[in-house]
Parts: sequence; structure tokens; C-alpha cells
Amino acid sequence: MNAIPDRAAGAEAMPPGLTLDVRDLHTRFATDDGVARAVEGVSFRVGRGETLAVVGESGSGKSVTSLSVMRLIAAPAGRIAAGTILFRGRDGAVHDLAAAGERLMRGIRGNEIGMIFQEPMTSLNPVYPVGEQIAEVLRLHRGLDRHAARAGALEMLEMVGIPAAARRLDEYPHQMSGGMRQRVMIAIALACRPTLLIADEPTTALDVTIQAQILDLMRQLQAGTGTSILFITHNLGVVAEIAHRVAVMYAGRIVEEGDVRTLFKAPRHPYTRGLLASMPRLGQAHGGARLEAIPGNVPGPFGRPAGCTFAPRCAYAEPACTAGEPVLETVTATHAVRCRRWRDLP
Ligand SMILES: Nc1ncnc2c1ncn2[C@@H]1O[C@H](COP(=O)(O)OP(=O)(O)OP(=O)(O)O)[C@@H](O)[C@H]1O
Ligand code: SF4
Ligand SMILES: [Mg+2]
Repeated sequence: MNAIPDRAAGAEAMPPGLTLDVRDLHTRFATDDGVARAVEGVSFRVGRGETLAVVGESGSGKSVTSLSVMRLIAAPAGRIAAGTILFRGRDGAVHDLAAAGERLMRGIRGNEIGMIFQEPMTSLNPVYPVGEQIAEVLRLHRGLDRHAARAGALEMLEMVGIPAAARRLDEYPHQMSGGMRQRVMIAIALACRPTLLIADEPTTALDVTIQAQILDLMRQLQAGTGTSILFITHNLGVVAEIAHRVAVMYAGRIVEEGDVRTLFKAPRHPYTRGLLASMPRLGQAHGGARLEAIPGNVPGPFGRPAGCTFAPRCAYAEPACTAGEPVLETVTATHAVRCRRWRDLP
């Protein structure tokens, strides 16, 4: 990481092979309507070279989780109220990002942890050529001089598959297509060879062909560098393409977690089943196929129902479900579910 002193978490507390170990994260916002409990006790791990997909409907807390890891929750309204976010940097040191100072975070963001967001136009600076924006990252975080940084920027553009990269270096973001801009974002995010890449809906705005190319690219890059990826999406088709493991979020909590094959073949939570049922069949994405949407909405972050928050929408709900909050139960060594009736489901 770097030599900036900070409150480092005990390295022994984090199992080896992990890049990120989030434990019991609570993130809240003070609003005029009361306290929004956006994330309520989320725990997950991402191993080295592993991709964890976080899925769930809009408002389930996916982005707030990733912004918490980056410490980009805007204070004073927003704050991490509890939890630890253990992160292992490239030098092997473990830090608790939930408690890290801003100085340490500035050395981590865009350096140890890269980010890709959904809309590249809001993240790219419109008044600088894209090559300069990549070179800037290389100068800032890898200490390259101007000449070396420009050469590095060219190399990055070529790596993310931008044709005629030498000419593209001097183009401005508005001169590029959406797919090309997203590749530039990826180039910027990867310029420092991050230990962890956080991608929040990185392909949602792109057409399916470009989307497939970008996912392919991320997979190749990961195979070459061992980068860990936290991939946020509501698209289960994308999850099947890219993830090793999946965490399903609902109303600020993880309700099911497992390896990708198990989650798709043998989901145990009624919500995961609903999400899968609402997924267009392969090849029918544009065929106007009728989606079997889950009736009802994700409860808002204020005054969620007592007990299981999914109960108002659940076909299997029984009185006990609303009495107490279900705990995350182990199904197998690689599969856990937060549903008190998972054994009874057909
Ligand atoms: N700055 C904020 N102030 C108040 N509430 C917020 C703020 N940011 C997020 N929330 C609330 O936190 C909850 C989780 O939001 P989040 O953006 O994480 O959802 P998401 O799962 O990323 O959804 P989407 O799929 O639409 O991106 C929502 O109820 C949202 O309204
Ligand atoms: S705990 Fe009960 S209400 Fe909640 S998902 Fe399971 S069966 Fe449905
Ligand atoms: Mg989001």
C-alpha cells in the first residue's frame, strides 16, 4: 500500500487469500423523513482473483455498499454507523477502511482500488483528452514522468481494445461512442493495476454486443493480473457471464450467497427464485418475452417490516416469518440463505 501510518486492522484477523472482508456493515443517511437504513448488517468476502457479483432490485443497497467500501458516502448526512471493511493492499498490509483517515483513502482510491461506474460521461472530465486523463493517474499514483505516462496511457488504450489508440489519445470524451468511453473508464480504473476493482453497473448503458466485449475484457484482465472484482448489477445474465460467487441483496441485507452455479441451479431463497424467474431466457432478451416480475416493491429504507423484510411479497410466508428476523443459515460450505423456511421450499 504505502507508508502512511493509519489504524491498521490486525492482519491475523483476515484470512489469507482474501482481498476484501466486509463485516456487519451498517450505512445510514439522515434525511428529512428520518434515518434511511440503506445497508443493515452486510458481510461478504472477495478473494484474490475472484469476482463477487452483488445483485438485487433497485434500492436494495448495492451502490451504498460499494460507496461505503470506497468511503465515498457523503457526510454529514451519510455515515458508516458500524462494521469493519478489511482490505489487503498490494504490500500485504491490512487496513480497516471503515476507520481509515481521509489521507490513507486518497492513496487507496484510484490506486489500490479502481472504480468503474455506469455512466462514463459523468466520471470522465469533458475538457481533457482521454489520453491525458489516463496519464494523470499514472503520474499521480505510479510516479511516472510525462513521457512515460503518455506511453503508459497508449498501452492502456491498446489493452482495452481501442482501435487506432495513438490517434484516440488526443480525443475528448464527447468524440467517442458510449462503448469506447466505457473502455476508457476501464483503462483509467486499471491504470494502477488495482488490487480491487469495483464495477457498479458498468455495462448497463451499453448494447449487448459491446457489453459482451467489455465483460470479456474484464475477465481477461483479471486472469492476467489476479485483480479481485466486486461487480454490481441487477442483470443476472451478466452475473452468469462474469461472477465466481454471488451475493443477493434485498432491502439492505444479503439474503442469499453462494457460488454462481449453485445460485443459478439450486437457489433456496424465494427472492432469488423470483429474480431468476424474471430473467429473460437466453436469446429472448429482445423478443418481448413476458417477464414474471416479483409482485410488490422493495420496502424503502425507513420503517421496514418486522421480521423477514421479504414477507409481504413472499408466497411462502407464514406467521413466524414476521415474528423475528431470519438469520443467514448455512446450506453448504459455499452456500448460505436468510430464510427460515429454506428447507421446506419445493
Ligand atoms: N444520499 C442518500 N440519502 C438518502 N438515502 C439514500 C442516499 N443514497 C441512497 N439512499 C437510499 O439507500 C437505499 C439503497 O440505495 P442504493 O443506491 O444503494 O440502491 P441500489 O441497490 O444501488 O439501487 P439501483 O439498482 O437503483 O442502483 C435506497 O433506499 C436509497 O434511496
Ligand atoms: S423467511 Fe418466510 S417470508 Fe421470508 S423469504 Fe423465507 S419463507 Fe418467505
Ligand atoms: Mg446502484
